[in-house]
Amino acid sequence: MKTNQQFDLEHIWHPYTSMLKPLPTYQVKQAKGVFIELETGEQLIDGMSSWWSIIHGYNHPVLNQAIHEQTAKMAHVMFGGLTHQPAIDLCRKLVEIAPDGLNKVFLADSGSVAVEVALKMAIQYWRGKNKPQKNKMVALKHGYHGDTFGAMSVCDPENSMHTIYSDILPNHYFVEAPKTQFDENLPSDNLVNDVAAMTQLLQHHHDDIAAVILEPIVQGAGGMRMYHPAYLASVKQLCEQYDVLLIADEIATGFGRTGQLFGCHHAHITPDIMCVGKALTGGYLSLAATLCTDEVAMGVSTGDAGVLMHGPTFMGNPLACSVANASLNLLESSNWQSSVSHIEQQLKQSLIPLASLKKVHDARVLGAIGVIEMEESVDVADVQKRFIRHGVWVRPFGKLIYIMPPFVISNSELTVLINAMVTVVTELSES
Ligand SMILES: Cc1ncc(COP(=O)(O)O)c(C=O)c1O
Repeated sequence: MKTNQQFDLEHIWHPYTSMLKPLPTYQVKQAKGVFIELETGEQLIDGMSSWWSIIHGYNHPVLNQAIHEQTAKMAHVMFGGLTHQPAIDLCRKLVEIAPDGLNKVFLADSGSVAVEVALKMAIQYWRGKNKPQKNKMVALKHGYHGDTFGAMSVCDPENSMHTIYSDILPNHYFVEAPKTQFDENLPSDNLVNDVAAMTQLLQHHHDDIAAVILEPIVQGAGGMRMYHPAYLASVKQLCEQYDVLLIADEIATGFGRTGQLFGCHHAHITPDIMCVGKALTGGYLSLAATLCTDEVAMGVSTGDAGVLMHGPTFMGNPLACSVANASLNLLESSNWQSSVSHIEQQLKQSLIPLASLKKVHDARVLGAIGVIEMEESVDVADVQKRFIRHGVWVRPFGKLIYIMPPFVISNSELTVLINAMVTVVTELSES
């Protein structure tokens, strides 16, 4: 019989890997708090929050209990024609905490699906307004919105992992990503130029544009770039001026990661459509949501179809909704702002000075996100191994080595994580 490791390598696809040259995987035995324990015994401090999601840490008693209690009632029931308390509570809470005016909620089963639904809402809205020709999207270069076909079509077409599909994806418009950094003093020439690109595009093409889609404040998997709230506020204003919807993809930024509950809060705006996911369930189960304004919902519902054409089998899954409710309650009752701000200060203090190292292109921090951009792409397998030697779990991609720890990380755990970043980046810089 093949060993687990052999079977895994030969039969199981992991994210973004080849079956011919698979990257190494490490078998996890269990996880608790901020620790991931490998079968081989190593205890690793998780620097990734399992891709932005595990904000309260692993194996949390409150989240475990929410799932146990819900399992005893029902694990699942179809959402077509039926409804239930966990979904009602969750949607009520989302409407309450989302930027004002996002009153309608569609429960999706992953971030990518929430983006698909957002694109459908935007297209159906304009059909409802008798403007079916408004069916193109504007997206930002370096943007990332997921791996399904609609979502891929609004990811950066050149710098992203989806370039190989570009000839079969629908054609949308792309503008340069904003260059104005989050903490830059305004006014700046950069901001004027950033906004000019979007202005020109909307001015000339608004007749066939349904929506602008962007990740508010932090562009995640497309480059971990952090831009100024003034850009977001300007785009919102331009969308209003040119009669184009704004879709905010808060799947990575939502629920406190950037220091505000939602990225949009930095710019005090309400988008027309907003997607959330990842940390929604505290990282326990796959669940996402697409929220929209009454105006968008009315447009969608008066169009030729009259209904929003989407309905996944596991829509509104009660287990996922219950754990999302428990996670949002935990977030609300915790002092997450001060935890995130504390993490931010520590990250700034230790990571920003790394920018002066020879092979480091840039170092940036916002909220509980710390990013080192190297001059060249790094060897993922090698870098992972180096971090494991230091007792932490960090998975780089491309030129980026980044961390976004669970909000519950303690001072001493954060110090271990940050010291590992400093050591590994310094080693790579000197190699
Ligand atoms: C901004 C953004 N949108 C969408 C997605 C896709 O979410 P999922 O992986 O749950 O499909 C991601 C995932 O990384 C993301 O960061």
